[in-house]
Amino acid sequence: EVLSITDSTNLQLMQRLQRGEQLPKGLVLVAEAQTAGRGRHGRAWYSPFAASLSFSMVWQLEQGIQAAMGLSLVIGVAVAELLEQQYQLQVGLKWPNDIYLQGKKLAGVLIELSGQSDGRCQLVIGIGINVQLSAVQAAQSIDQPWIDLTTAYGPLDRNRLVAGLQSCCTEHLQRFEQSGFAAFQAAFNRRQLFMLQPVRLTQGQQVVRGICHGVDAQGNLVIESQGKKQLFHGGELSLRAE
Ligand code: ATP
Ligand code: BTN
Repeated sequence: EVLSITDSTNLQLMQRLQRGEQLPKGLVLVAEAQTAGRGRHGRAWYSPFAASLSFSMVWQLEQGIQAAMGLSLVIGVAVAELLEQQYQLQVGLKWPNDIYLQGKKLAGVLIELSGQSDGRCQLVIGIGINVQLSAVQAAQSIDQPWIDLTTAYGPLDRNRLVAGLQSCCTEHLQRFEQSGFAAFQAAFNRRQLFMLQPVRLTQGQQVVRGICHGVDAQGNLVIESQGKKQLFHGGELSLRAE
């Protein structure tokens, strides 16, 4: 389904699922613009008209929510492989949900849980990718270095990008259901920003400093701090280079 403008493609699908609409697994909603695009923890995702691509997909996991651990990492790998294969770009991934080019944020992933029943869970998987942002407008809305696909690659066909996203996400999600996160661990770690470098991980006032060892076979972030390897997952954790 394609919309010209909406509040948030994730919100639209979440509301429809919560109203009890039976949406097929794999249904995709894309929009040219969002007025209330959202990132993690209620942060705003800037997605003005035709400058970015907003993509959301309905998915169900038969195994329940515990199995969803690592899902945003798998989607990151799917987007990275698409951008590498279709546009020959070199992509970096920042745990748990950010996609980088040339050290700047290109795209983000937001996965929301709409409900659980009979051991299955229903999810909305959202991806926002910058296609061609105006530097002047973005300066007022994005408080970190960013990049768009047109700068990195040149003009591109948005329909081909959507089709690529739909097929790479479906393919990776099916493989994730069969094999779990372990099948993606190496692909994620190969692209993980700050690998074997000093980092800090913050959660509110709490800060852990150490060396980043990428993710383990479950998708936990591994940080070596004071001689011990510690595992982190979930919560409002943010990873930064030290
Ligand atoms: P972390 O996920 O590690 O906490 P983050 O700062 O990227 O890092 P997110 O919640 O993932 O936080 O993403 C939201 C942030 O992304 C916003 O606070 C803003 O800084 C940035 N942002 C918003 N819109 C865009 C965009 N179109 N392109 C790049 N970055 C954006
Ligand atoms: C992030 O970096 O925190 C994630 C950004 C996710 C943005 C996408 S755009 C499509 C979908 N709809 C939303 O409101 N958010 C996601």
